[in-house]
Amino acid sequence: MIALASDHAGFELKEAIKKHLVENNYDILDFGTNSNASVDYPPFARMAAEAVAAGECDKGIICCGTGIGVSIVANKVKGIRCALCTNEFTAEMSRKHNDANMMALGARVTDQELALKMVDIWLNTEFEEGRHKRRVDMIEELG
Ligand code: RB5
Repeated sequence: MIALASDHAGFELKEAIKKHLVENNYDILDFGTNSNASVDYPPFARMAAEAVAAGECDKGIICCGTGIGVSIVANKVKGIRCALCTNEFTAEMSRKHNDANMMALGARVTDQELALKMVDIWLNTEFEEGRHKRRVDMIEELG
């Protein structure tokens, strides 16, 4: 199950990601927002992050204008490692080296076609474990 959330700036990208994931047989849980009307991003990012932290969703993808606001919110939730990804390389490495369980995307930064490619890479890349596990454990020790 993949958690999705956005504010108004990320709404259209979230909808495109939702369509793409549904077409590819993923189960999704959409925490809103549900239109282009202006909203504050923290409650939406928080709901998605809490669903991932609780194990209700395996991973989460969240969008705002830059991806920055939603990533800051998600990373406040214990157990969340939310990576703000800007290209295919950061999408891949955030899984391989950081075991990111959430991905943040900026709809005003990354075009839709690239974002969908990044989503596919991110969902299909495994954590490499090894020395990276030690480092991720150190992050988790921070609480
Ligand atoms: C909304 O205008 C914008 O501030 C928000 O989408 C996001 O980019 C914040 O980090």
